[in-house]
Amino acid sequence: MGLLTNFARIWLTRSFKPFRFTNKHNSVLTYENAKNLGLYVHIPFCASICAFCPYCKTVFDGELAKRYTNALLREIDMIGSMSSGTKTEVTSLYFGGGSPALIAYDIGRIIAEIKKYFIINDGIGIELHPQDVTEQTLSVLKQAGITKISIGIQSFQSEYLEILERQHTDFEKMFAELSKVPFETVSMDFIFALPGQTIELLKKDIEYAFSHGANHIAVYPFIDFTFTNRRFPKMSETEKKNLLYELVGYCEEKGYKRDSIWTFSKDGKSKYSSMTRENFLGFGCSATTLLKYQFCINTFNAEKYIERIEKQQLPTALSLHFTLRQRMVYYLFWAAYTMRVSRNGFRDFFELPLEGYYGTELWIARKLGWIRKEENDYIMTTKGSYYYHYFEYFYTLSYIDRMWNLMREAAFPEELIIR
Ligand SMILES: C[S@@+](CC[C@H](N)C(=O)[O-])C[C@H]1O[C@@H](n2cnc3c(N)ncnc32)[C@H](O)[C@@H]1O
Ligand code: SF4
Repeated sequence: MGLLTNFARIWLTRSFKPFRFTNKHNSVLTYENAKNLGLYVHIPFCASICAFCPYCKTVFDGELAKRYTNALLREIDMIGSMSSGTKTEVTSLYFGGGSPALIAYDIGRIIAEIKKYFIINDGIGIELHPQDVTEQTLSVLKQAGITKISIGIQSFQSEYLEILERQHTDFEKMFAELSKVPFETVSMDFIFALPGQTIELLKKDIEYAFSHGANHIAVYPFIDFTFTNRRFPKMSETEKKNLLYELVGYCEEKGYKRDSIWTFSKDGKSKYSSMTRENFLGFGCSATTLLKYQFCINTFNAEKYIERIEKQQLPTALSLHFTLRQRMVYYLFWAAYTMRVSRNGFRDFFELPLEGYYGTELWIARKLGWIRKEENDYIMTTKGSYYYHYFEYFYTLSYIDRMWNLMREAAFPEELIIR
């Protein structure tokens, strides 16, 4: 696996230079002219912790949550003031976690602080745990300005909730609550490739979601992070591949629009995606910031995060300064996640032609049937999406797993070199 990612990196970046993250970072973030800028806020609190989950989170503690929220408001103020003059336009704002609705009554304050500096053009999303789905919490969130919600169902089958050691929810009651407070996007997350899972069970879950208020779904393959605690057998690669083909085939047949590698929209319009912006600013523990030639990740430690903010310092733990080719690869990786790479989008972002830099790779990908050309865009085929899935899996285990594992152990590591 290391060999494969190493080879891919050297080939695609045309350099032996690894991705080198260090603890040296700029004290000012320059984002004023960043194209398609998105915002992300991380709330690391959960009612209880799931063994399979790799994200930065801790069990909810009211006193810590209060101090964390205050620090978050100060971080927004610090970063917001780095742009001079008028407010900056952004595509969207997403709250992720953890379970951000555990501080539902503070979400309005956080949004108000953000709106002092930014104009949000495309709505505000939040991740919810099924147990957050009550009329009261949803009303508070809607009043705060939330327009999109994403609920972490994982599976409607109690057998799989048990395998995942996930708290059980009365889904009928959850749907009744959900129907009382409408949102523009209601997305539901599922995990597939769990032991013995069949397409019939997945179809049942998808239809149940779409017939009970969801207009968008995300179906993620189970990812076995080295630092999480899987206590069930893994599905074989062949079974997983077949399930993925069956899943995509089923959604296509039903007319659900695939709007990214793992997401489908019932009506072709609803979207929920916190990851795919060209540039984004992240606030809170573990949040990442991506700008034209810079990538930063905040500390995973809530206490150290608060300490840094109280000293009026950015909570950045590691930073990477991209070479041009490294940034191009990163750009293409996330563009491909949406199943579409726009030649004009690439040219606008880099002021350079896509084919001039990756013409050979695009030619090979077309010959292999991984992509097809449609006017000015390259569209990923179902076959291509399967290989993308493979690559993403390797990337997650070689890059994200290593980075998050290190960040869990050290609040401010010295450096991380990824080959
Ligand atoms: C932050 S959680 C969702 C919100 C909420 N905390 C909850 O648990 O319902 C984000 C999503 O990541 C997905 N996820 C978490 N761990 C995963 C893993 N090991 N493999 C694949 N997907 C995972 C789940 O589908 C989950 O709903
Ligand atoms: S899956 Fe959700 S509730 Fe479970 S630990 Fe992760 S963030 Fe928390």
